[in-house]
Amino acid sequence: MCGIVGAVAQRNIVPVLIEGLRRLEYRGYDSCGVAVLADGGPRRARSVARVADLDAQTRDTHLEGGTGVAHTRWATHGAPVTDNAHPIFSKDELALVHNGIIENYESLREMLRGKGYVFVSQTDTEVVAHLVHSLYRGDLFAAVRETVTHLDGAYAIAVEHKDHPHTVVGARQGSPLVVGLGEGENFLASDALALGGTTERFIFLEEGDVCELTLERVRIVARDGASVQREVRTVEAYGGGVELGPYRHFMQKEIFEQPRAITDTIPQSDSFDASLFGENAAAVFADIDNLLILACGTSYYSGLTAKYWLESIAKIPTQVEIASEYRYRDSVPNPKTLVVVISQSGETADTLAALKHAQALGHVHTLAVCNVATSAMVRLTSLSFHTHAGREIGVASTKAFTTQLVGLFVLAATLGKLRGTVSAAQELDYVRQLRHLPAALNSVLALEPQIIAWSDAFSRKESALFLGRGLHYPIALEGALKLKEISYIHAEAYPAGELKHGPLALVTDAMPVVAIAPNDALLEKLKSNLQEVKARGGELYVFADSDTRIASEAGMHVIRMPEHYGPLSPILHVVPLQLLAYHTAFARGTDVDKPRNLAKSVTVE
Ligand code: AGP
Repeated sequence: MCGIVGAVAQRNIVPVLIEGLRRLEYRGYDSCGVAVLADGGPRRARSVARVADLDAQTRDTHLEGGTGVAHTRWATHGAPVTDNAHPIFSKDELALVHNGIIENYESLREMLRGKGYVFVSQTDTEVVAHLVHSLYRGDLFAAVRETVTHLDGAYAIAVEHKDHPHTVVGARQGSPLVVGLGEGENFLASDALALGGTTERFIFLEEGDVCELTLERVRIVARDGASVQREVRTVEAYGGGVELGPYRHFMQKEIFEQPRAITDTIPQSDSFDASLFGENAAAVFADIDNLLILACGTSYYSGLTAKYWLESIAKIPTQVEIASEYRYRDSVPNPKTLVVVISQSGETADTLAALKHAQALGHVHTLAVCNVATSAMVRLTSLSFHTHAGREIGVASTKAFTTQLVGLFVLAATLGKLRGTVSAAQELDYVRQLRHLPAALNSVLALEPQIIAWSDAFSRKESALFLGRGLHYPIALEGALKLKEISYIHAEAYPAGELKHGPLALVTDAMPVVAIAPNDALLEKLKSNLQEVKARGGELYVFADSDTRIASEAGMHVIRMPEHYGPLSPILHVVPLQLLAYHTAFARGTDVDKPRNLAKSVTVE
């Protein structure tokens, strides 16, 4: 999704801006650009290829300057063509970059046309550039402050003007923006990650903030017009680059990093303590009688898995809802609800908005399960659990998912202990199972050659069905999502018992049916469902626990998983599905880490 980098310095800042864009590439984009103030006005380079191409252009054209704004664009309004790439100019006097969506851009465009502004792009961003220009009376900071009062929607912007050679002005509402503090130079970015290696001191701007960066000073004005001092935080973890090592893609690397990520996420202590979730978690947990989980995509599926754990282990009623649905429907708030948001990035616009919506409804007990400790979601919730997946580059989430599952399992066990549904012996057993998980995952990863053998057949299919039951139904959903997002094969998931209520009509030998077959209470039911598929000529691919007595035969291919892993089994069973999606996509030659149309961090609605 769109990324912003801005800088004010006394050196040529283009390499820093380009490096910032490189670090934001993983978010997904379809064009990019950079503009610096030079020769009395903004000068820019834009590309509909990769940041590397933009870099080459800046070198070829000697684009240099100390004040600049740069952008990776993920198209919303207007195709990914050069005219729509940011920075967007107004009258060749100011350059502006924007992340988010301006909802009232059509009425603003008409108003600005009436004032003589000519629009050369299809973007909603161009109205912001012209609006700042139209309101400019010699003070850029004042013009931007006035501009934002006219904007509806979500945005983060950065703007520079020819009359202010050492100033960049930024503003945010609904989209992230951070200030990076340097010595005699200052920076803006949509993610602190972009400035790794440049600075470790950051100010995370709050909703409605407008800031002015000069060489020596950062001025911030809050939504109410008051000057404010925001906390300066040190963020060290962003310095290092991320290497691919022996892997072909980041997704493959991240799949194999899961044993390490899970080791880092499992709590060190031998018991489940409320303090794992924050200082006042014990008081909050004592005051709740149900949970509402809000998330999107893969994170939503980890929430669905957690519902099974929370209701069976902690006996606490749990509702799971897609964040983008929850925020727009009437719901009945309950002061005894713990609202849990789950997110890899902690910046997903829909989940963030759902959290704010819940808070506006009066929910005070909030918890984020998140992979980015400094993210907006963590800052907005009273409790949090930090998953230590490390940076996830591949658009398709893998290690973030399994570490979320670990965090959510720990939440279920902790609540169960507090509510008296988890005995001391059970607690020890859960701790033991968690500790053994990385080793069990390694033996699942060793199945890769068998999965590669299946992927060839899959790569020639156009549709696939995933089946799971109970705790493993959300894993079937996740397996189908992985396959469709990176291989572009249409895939759907069903709880196996639903087959005969409709999807069985789709079954032919042209559509592989993937089944997750753990040795749990529903095994015999699942075996009957598999027979229903076989009887209709379907081709089954089954991941079966070794003690299930499901064996390969005509029309049924079986990969044996380790023995049944109890309630933590979903964490093991999702891994071969990740590998199947990865190798199928690789065989089809898709851009695995940056699948078409998708972005890593979805910061627009
Ligand atoms: C997963 O593979 C996705 N690309 C996507 O569904 C993702 O999980 C979703 O956008 C939510 O992101 P978040 O966890 O950062 O909030």
